Amino acid sequence: MRVLVTGGAGFIGANFVHQTVRERPDAEVTVLDALTYAGDRASLADIEDKITFVEGNITDAALVDDLASKADQIVHFAAESHNDNSLKDPSPFIQTNLVGTYTLLEAVRKHGVKFHHISTDEVYGDLELDDPAKFTPDTPYNPSSPYSSTKAGSDLLVRAWVRSFGIEATLSNCSNNYGPYQHVEKFIPRQVTNLIDGIKPRLYGAGENVRDWIHVEDHNSAVWTIIDKGRSGETYLIGANGEKNNLEVVQTLLEIFGFDKNDFEHVKDRPGHDMRYAIDNTKLRTELGWEPKYTDFSTGLQATVDWYKANEAWWRPAKEATEAKYAAAGH
Ligand code: NAD
Ligand code: DAU
Repeated sequence: MRVLVTGGAGFIGANFVHQTVRERPDAEVTVLDALTYAGDRASLADIEDKITFVEGNITDAALVDDLASKADQIVHFAAESHNDNSLKDPSPFIQTNLVGTYTLLEAVRKHGVKFHHISTDEVYGDLELDDPAKFTPDTPYNPSSPYSSTKAGSDLLVRAWVRSFGIEATLSNCSNNYGPYQHVEKFIPRQVTNLIDGIKPRLYGAGENVRDWIHVEDHNSAVWTIIDKGRSGETYLIGANGEKNNLEVVQTLLEIFGFDKNDFEHVKDRPGHDMRYAIDNTKLRTELGWEPKYTDFSTGLQATVDWYKANEAWWRPAKEATEAKYAAAGH
């Protein structure tokens, strides 16, 4: 199978490429990535000789058309992915998440290549803390931020291209990922690298917001399950029953590092901050037989801390500028 992975130098995409090279020796992998601030070729350094890397933009119609004509399956990870950035400047989110997805869909339509669209649970908005409900594939779309609204728009484009033009496409909406190669702007790597540097973890607001954590390896095994066995036009929600509030996550990290559990700082909250995400993964488990492997969060988190400790050369170059950006925003 010739697989074109967009955004393969980012966090989840790079882990997907590693997993694919490791577990699917028959797959010929091409990565298309613009190497924005979030993309890093070093994330693929140890498998560079096993893949083809193309530096380019998913809004470049001629390039996308050429690459799509040589692929059997596209797995579309490329996106602007950080909520805080989208609140500061939405424009790259419109370009990449909407125009980029549209550009890919037009090439998919022309060349009859299969498409898997990677999306987020944030398209469903948020849940109350005391609500017993979780997101299902039937939950109405209600995104809160420029990031999540552009992801919602991209999902709707994919669905429309399936219905109107008959392209073969599957979609997945996943909860918060953690694991190796995640940019230091994101919550867990930011706090892990702060702790390595002797800086207190920074908690937005009261820290009551809940995220449904899943290890990136489990996200990617689910993506392959959907590509292998999923039905075209269908949406599958990916999650591993990992609900934790932000305070619990920070305190688990403080415990891993052997610090006092109150040794963190409250900082300015995010405007429009979603309260809770929670995934009902019944469809994925019962219809496609997928199960997560990383069911113990603190074990997965310990492994992630070990990875950041062992790979300082990978994250250090981005740390100072990221923290300067947060300081300017009061976070
Ligand atoms: P990331 O920000 O770490 O990586 C994004 C990658 O896309 C980078 O390598 C970047 O260079 C590339 N990219 C950005 N704009 C591009 C463009 N115009 N053309 C080509 N490449 C471009 O993101 P991530 O956290 O790995 O997320 C990957 C996907 O998964 C996104 O679609 C995101 O919405 C989705 N998602 C993420 C999470 C999460 O917890 N991180 C959860 C659910 C879904
Ligand atoms: O739910 C899936 C989404 O998860 C993905 O679609 C996004 O791409 C991904 O970035 C993530 O979005 P969040 O906004 O939930 O992730 P983030 O890591 O930015 O923040 C997680 C939580 O931690 C959120 O409630 C905000 C909070 N936070 C974040 C930072 C950076 C803090 O308390 N302190 C921080 O320093």
